[in-house]
Amino acid sequence: MPETPQIPEAFEALLRPIRPARLLDVATGVGQFVGLLAEHLGGFDEIIGIDTSEKAIEQARAQFNDPRIHFECADAERMPYPDDSFDAVAISNSLHHMEDLPSVLAEMRRVLAPHADWIVMEMHDDATTPGARNALDLHRWAAAVDRALGRYHEPVWGRSVLLSQLDALGLADFRTAEWASDSFDLNAEAADRMAETIDRILAQAKGTPNAGVLSDEAERLIERIRSEGIGQQPFLLAVGRQRPA
Ligand SMILES: C[S@@+](CC[C@H](N)C(=O)[O-])C[C@H]1O[C@@H](n2cnc3c(N)ncnc32)[C@H](O)[C@@H]1O
Repeated sequence: MPETPQIPEAFEALLRPIRPARLLDVATGVGQFVGLLAEHLGGFDEIIGIDTSEKAIEQARAQFNDPRIHFECADAERMPYPDDSFDAVAISNSLHHMEDLPSVLAEMRRVLAPHADWIVMEMHDDATTPGARNALDLHRWAAAVDRALGRYHEPVWGRSVLLSQLDALGLADFRTAEWASDSFDLNAEAADRMAETIDRILAQAKGTPNAGVLSDEAERLIERIRSEGIGQQPFLLAVGRQRPA
């Protein structure tokens, strides 16, 4: 299993009571959130992670060696599962990646049994420290690179927009916890690593009409990271239970 980040106690407290038989992780990427759930849920029988990216699914499969955890290439807008086939669903840092979010949410509802658990983790852009702001600006810039390449990637929502989206799910026993960290890295080595990451991302945008603007922004971003450091963007974790239709 991949190494998972340390999470705050308030996140643990929301996750520990959840013990699904069958959980679906939507837009799983390389399975980072699956690792976190496997470590912090009270228990589970099976987790399936889905993503449209074959490359991500291959990487996810290579990282896990647990017969209870599977990854499948599938579109969250049209899931290949019958109604009521999971008793928990999760989505992490991906709501703002969904081109047709209403369809994805409707599919998540459809494949869930009544009273099933929802687990949503999403970053938001209400950062209060320079380190967190720089992390968000890096994400905002990387989203602009994705868009230049024709990949759907909305900017991260503000906290109140995120909360109103989650509220609209109409979940029972809805609870949230916040993860805002004011620690940050301010050393030349960390900044060099970030600069390398930024250069790698920028290389993908080469030849697109926005390449020049993205390159100037990247330079300013690296300068700021060198002078102010880089921290972690704020996250919100929400849990709740599906109400029967
Ligand atoms: C930020 S990444 C995944 C993050 C991951 N959940 C985590 O917490 O590390 C967003 C993912 O959404 C996937 N994605 C976008 N649209 C999708 C869709 N319609 N169905 C499934 N996956 C989708 C992308 O391929 C990408 O891997």
